[in-house]
Amino acid sequence: MGKEKNIRKKTYRIGVIPGDGTGPEVVAEGLKVLAAASQAVGFKYETREYDFGGERYLKTGEILPDSALPELKKVDAIYLGAVGHPGVKPGILEKGILLRLRFELDQYINLRPVKLYPGVWTPLADKGPEDIDFVVVRENTEGLYVGTGGFFKKGTKDEVAVQEMINTRKGVERCIRYAFELTRKRNKEKKLTLCAKTNVLTYAHDLWQRTFDEVSGEYPEVNADYAHVDATCMWMVKNPEWFDVIVTCNMFGDIITDLGAMIQGGMGIAAGGNINPQGTSMFEPIGGSAPKYTGKNVVCPLAAISAVQMMLEHLGEEKGADLVEKAIVKALTSGKIKDLSARSGISTTEIGDLVAKYIK
Ligand code: IPM
Ligand code: MN
Repeated sequence: MGKEKNIRKKTYRIGVIPGDGTGPEVVAEGLKVLAAASQAVGFKYETREYDFGGERYLKTGEILPDSALPELKKVDAIYLGAVGHPGVKPGILEKGILLRLRFELDQYINLRPVKLYPGVWTPLADKGPEDIDFVVVRENTEGLYVGTGGFFKKGTKDEVAVQEMINTRKGVERCIRYAFELTRKRNKEKKLTLCAKTNVLTYAHDLWQRTFDEVSGEYPEVNADYAHVDATCMWMVKNPEWFDVIVTCNMFGDIITDLGAMIQGGMGIAAGGNINPQGTSMFEPIGGSAPKYTGKNVVCPLAAISAVQMMLEHLGEEKGADLVEKAIVKALTSGKIKDLSARSGISTTEIGDLVAKYIK
C-alpha cells in the first residue's frame, strides 16, 4: 500500500509534438482520453508542447532545434501526432524530426501491435479478432534508414546512386533480444518469427539469422521461426493467425506494418511505440498527416488514442492502459462508429468524447 502511494506521487512529464496536418486534431483527442484515465486511476502528469513541424519550418527555417534534444531526453515519454506537410519537400520533416528523434533518442525498437478489435471491419474474409493479434518488432535505428550513401556523376547518363544498409551486431542483437523477451511475456503461443531475406541479402541478413539463432538458444520456451519478407506478406493476408511476434529490420518493418495496419482496420486504428528501454520513448499513430482532411474534424483518432494506451503501458500505468483499451473496444462495439474512415459520419471529437466517457 505504502509503496503504491509513493509510486502514485510521481508526476509524469510528457512531451507533446502535435506536428502537421491532422496530427494536432488526433493528439487533442488522445490528450482528452489521457486526462480521463488520469482522473479515473489517479496518476499525475504534466505536458509540454513543442511546435515542430511544417508550419514552423516554413516560417523560421528551423526543423528541430538542437536545444530541444537534451530536454526531450529527460521527459518520461513523448506523444507525437504526425509529420509531413504538403508545402515542404518530402523527406525534410520526416528525416529532420521523426527519424532524428528516433535516432538521437536511440529508440531502437519500433513496436507495432497488429490487433483486430471486435466491431472493426477487416478486408480479410473469414478472419476475426481471434485470428489477427500479433506484434511487429521493427528495428528502428539502422538498416536502410541510416542515410549513408551518395551520388556519383549526378544528373548525367552515367549517374550512380548508392544507399547503404547498415546492420551492426549490437543493433541487431538488442532488437532480437527485445523480441524474444516480449514473446516470452506475451500470452500467446510464444512463437517468434524472424522476417528477413536471407536468400538475397546474404551478408546483412546472414548477420540477422546468426544472431537470431544464437539468442534463441537462451530462450528454449520460445518457438523460433523464420519467414522471408515476401512470404511474410503472403501469410499476413492468408494466415495471420500463424503470427505471435515478428522481428524484422527497419525497412521491412516499415512495409509490413502498413499491411498490418490494413488488416487491423486501417490507419485510423494502428498505433506504434518508438522504444528506448533505457531512455525516452515516443508514441504515435502510425498514419501520416492526411493534409486532405486537415481541419475538417473527420479523421479517426483511435490510432492516436491507442498510442496513449501504449504510452501508459510503457510508463507502468497498467490499470490506466487497460481502461483505455476497454473504452476503445466499448466505443467500437457501441454501434456509433460505422467505420474508421474519414467518411464514417462520426467526427474526430465525437469519437474522443465517446472513449473518454467510457473511461469514466
Ligand atoms: C513510419 C513512417 C516513417 C518511416 C516515415 C514518415 C519516415 O512511414 O513511421 O512508418 O518510414 O518510418
Ligand atoms: Mn511507414
